[in-house]
Amino acid sequence: MKNWNRRKPMGLDHVAEHHRLKPTLSWWHLMALGVGAVVGTGIYTLVGVGAGLAGPAVVLSFVIAGVICACAALAYAEVAAMIPASGSAYTYSYVALGELIAWIVGWSLILEYSLVVSAVAVGWSGYAAGFAASLGVDLPTALIAGPHAGGLVNAPAVLIVAVVAGLLMLGTRESATLNAVLVVVKIVALALFVAVALPHFDPARFEPFMPYGFAGHADGGAQRGVMAAAAIIFFAFYGFDAVSTAAEEAKKPARDLPIGIIGSLVVCTLIYVGVAATAVGALSFTEFANSPEPLALILRSVGSGWAAALVAAAAVIALPTVILAFLYGQSRIFFVMARDGLFPQALAKVSPRTGTPVRITALTATIVAALAAFIPLDEIAALANAGTLVAFIAVAVCMLVLRRSAPDAPRLFRAPAPWLIGPAAVAGCLYLFWSLPRTTHVFFAVWSLAGLAVYFLWGARRLKTR
Ligand code: ALA
Repeated sequence: MKNWNRRKPMGLDHVAEHHRLKPTLSWWHLMALGVGAVVGTGIYTLVGVGAGLAGPAVVLSFVIAGVICACAALAYAEVAAMIPASGSAYTYSYVALGELIAWIVGWSLILEYSLVVSAVAVGWSGYAAGFAASLGVDLPTALIAGPHAGGLVNAPAVLIVAVVAGLLMLGTRESATLNAVLVVVKIVALALFVAVALPHFDPARFEPFMPYGFAGHADGGAQRGVMAAAAIIFFAFYGFDAVSTAAEEAKKPARDLPIGIIGSLVVCTLIYVGVAATAVGALSFTEFANSPEPLALILRSVGSGWAAALVAAAAVIALPTVILAFLYGQSRIFFVMARDGLFPQALAKVSPRTGTPVRITALTATIVAALAAFIPLDEIAALANAGTLVAFIAVAVCMLVLRRSAPDAPRLFRAPAPWLIGPAAVAGCLYLFWSLPRTTHVFFAVWSLAGLAVYFLWGARRLKTR
C-alpha cells in the first residue's frame, strides 16, 4: 500500500486489561462533561456577533447549528467508541481514510484547537475588562483591544493564555469536580441573565425577524444572513467530543453515550435559544452586536449593574477551563502526529519533570496569544470553525466508510439511521462551511496548502524512513 494511503489498525484488543479505564460514568456525568466543555465564548460573546449578522433570527441560527452538530455528534460517538485512541478525528481518519486525509484532518484540528484558545481568550478579556470596570478599575482601551477596535494590543487575552499554558505545563488536568462546579457557575449565570432581562422583553424588537435574509451573502463588508450567523454560532456547540472520548468510561455506553451527547446538545441548544431570545427581546440587537461583553451590556442597559457584574464574574471564573481543555487537546493531537512521525519528534518531547509536552505547549501558547492580541474575535472564530467543520465532515465520512469496510467490528454504540445522519452531517457542515466569510475560505485554503506542502516535503519522507 502506498504511504499516503496507509491505515492504522482499529481493534480494541491490543489495549491491555490494565490499560483499560474503569466504567464509572453514567449518562448525567457524561451530560455534565458535555455541557461543561461546550458552554463558553460562543454564547457569552458570539451571540452578539451572530445577532449582528442575522438580526433577531439569530435564534434560528442557534437551532440550525445545533441540529447539524447533533448529526455530527452521533457519528462522532460511534467512531470514538470504536477507536478509543487519542488523537480524535486525526486518528479516526488514519484508520478509515488513510494517511494523507488523516494529515489534512490533523492539520485542520491544529487550526481548530489553537484558534478556539485564542477566541475564548478574547471573549474572556471582554468580560474581564468589563468586570474590572464594575470594580472601578478602568483599563485603557489601548491595552484591552486589538487595532481593529481602536486599541493596540489585547493584553488580558495574552495574560490568560500565558496563565493557562503555565498551569498546563505544570501538569494540570481538567478535574471532574472543578468541572462540575464550573458547569453550575456558567449555567446559573446564564439563568440569572434570563431572569433579570426577561421582564424587559419587548416582542416588537423581533420585527423584522430576518432583516438580512436566510442564505449567507456579502453585505457591507460582512457575510450576513441566518446561515452566515449559524456558521459563526457553530463555535458555541463544539467541545462535545469530550463526551465521546469518555466512551470507555461509560457504564452503559450503548445507552449513555447518545443520551450524554444528544442530551448535552439539546440542553445547550435550549439554553442558547433562551439566552439569545431574551437578549434580542431586551435590547435592540444593533446595540449589543459589537460589544465585547454583550450579556453584561444588556443587563446594564436594563438597569441591573449588579447582575452584569455577577455574569461577568462567572465568565471570568469559568471560561479559562474551556481554554485549558482545548490547549490540552491541541498538545495531545500534536503529540500523536509527532509520534506517528508526521512532525519532528523533538517537538513532542515530554518533560521528565512534569510529564507534559512543555515545548509544544509553549510554542502553541505563544502563537495563539499573538493571534488573540491583535485579531478580532469573529475572524478567529470563523477560521476555528472552518477547521472544525472539516474534522466533523471527516468523522461522518469515517462512520460511513467503516460501516462498509468493517461491518462486523465491535461497536459499543451504533448511531441510529447512519445513512441518514451521516450524509446529513456532511451536507450540513458543508453548507455551514460555505456560509463562512470569503476571507475565511481564503485563509483556510492557504493553511491547507501549507499543510500539504509540509506533508510532501517533510511528513511523507519521514514516514518512509521510519
Ligand atoms: N463551545 C466553546 C465555546 O463556546 C468552544 O467557548
